[in-house]
Amino acid sequence: MTVLGIETSCDETSAAVVADGKVLSNIISSQLVHAKFGGVVPELASRAHMRMIIDVVDEALAKAGVSKEKLDGIAVTQGPGLVGSLLVGLSFAKALAYGLGIPFIGVNHMEGHLYSTFLEDPQPEYPFIALIVSGGHSMLVHVKQPFDQQLLGQTRDDAAGEAFDKVAKMLGLGYPGGPAIDKLAREGNPKAIDFPRSFLEEDSFDFSFSGIKTSVLYYLRKNNLLPLGNSKPTEKAMADICASFQASVVEVLVTKTVAAAEQYGVKTICLAGGVSANSLLRTEMKRESDRLGIALHFPRLEYCMDNGAMIALVGEMKLASGISSPFDLKAVANLPMEAEG
Ligand code: KG4
Ligand code: ZN
Repeated sequence: MTVLGIETSCDETSAAVVADGKVLSNIISSQLVHAKFGGVVPELASRAHMRMIIDVVDEALAKAGVSKEKLDGIAVTQGPGLVGSLLVGLSFAKALAYGLGIPFIGVNHMEGHLYSTFLEDPQPEYPFIALIVSGGHSMLVHVKQPFDQQLLGQTRDDAAGEAFDKVAKMLGLGYPGGPAIDKLAREGNPKAIDFPRSFLEEDSFDFSFSGIKTSVLYYLRKNNLLPLGNSKPTEKAMADICASFQASVVEVLVTKTVAAAEQYGVKTICLAGGVSANSLLRTEMKRESDRLGIALHFPRLEYCMDNGAMIALVGEMKLASGISSPFDLKAVANLPMEAEG
């Protein structure tokens, strides 16, 4: 089966071709227009998707060496995401599928991330616990079988990536902030500043990152280190702040993920979403999972970030079990991840 996947939920315009679970192409056009605003500007995002979508889809088909007529279906992100951006991909996918007379499949963006590790070899074994951490979401999910999934917890305020981006903005590091903090943190001392770890109630798998973010702000204010303050942080101070902040976020993510695996007796953990590219998160999660005899899977960078391949893969899995979507399917900005199965 050969499926085209289209992803336009936020600031990446992406299209990919997946055939029998293998990625033939995965084209990602990241919108640079948002950098100077320190975050994604929805109207600019939809316009950029409109400018890019045809070229990105054409390139994905050309690189895969697949003509439109060879496609068995078209998968597209239905939500969650920015509604104007979702509509660009959804309308495009519907029109193309209708014109070709093939099914189209609306895919939940979070399910895309959830199954993104299946784009890699070796694939994870069921059941697994997935930690999905991105700019918009932080979720812990227990997956028993394909699409038989239970949301264990999610963020009550900021997503993990959002906290990285906001702290980076305070430090004048630009957007997106995660990679910049990750890099600077390597030179810093993670124990230099004792930022709080927010574990919430003892048995909760929910997250909260706004407190850590506010602590960084207070620390910078107290020490007169904000970019507009009188003194600029030294390179060493910047590195220590980044390392200490990152250590605090990672400790919470690792502790809760491992606790979920232990509570549900699960021997596999999958990481997904943009923040799963974080080097400390990967090493700490690996250390803990090795200690407990748990298999750890995470996708390569191009499958961590928003990408069409993960959407095509979920579309193919659904199509293979006879599921497709009606042509009046609507874009849903806050589409929940349903427990299925
Ligand atoms: O999954 P993604 O590409 O888009 C969303 O669906 O949000 O995730 C983007 C997020 C941004 O917040 C970015 O700062 C964060 O992932 N990120 C990182 C790293 N690379 C990207 N956060 C921490 N460390 C990284 N190395
Ligand atoms: Zn995403």
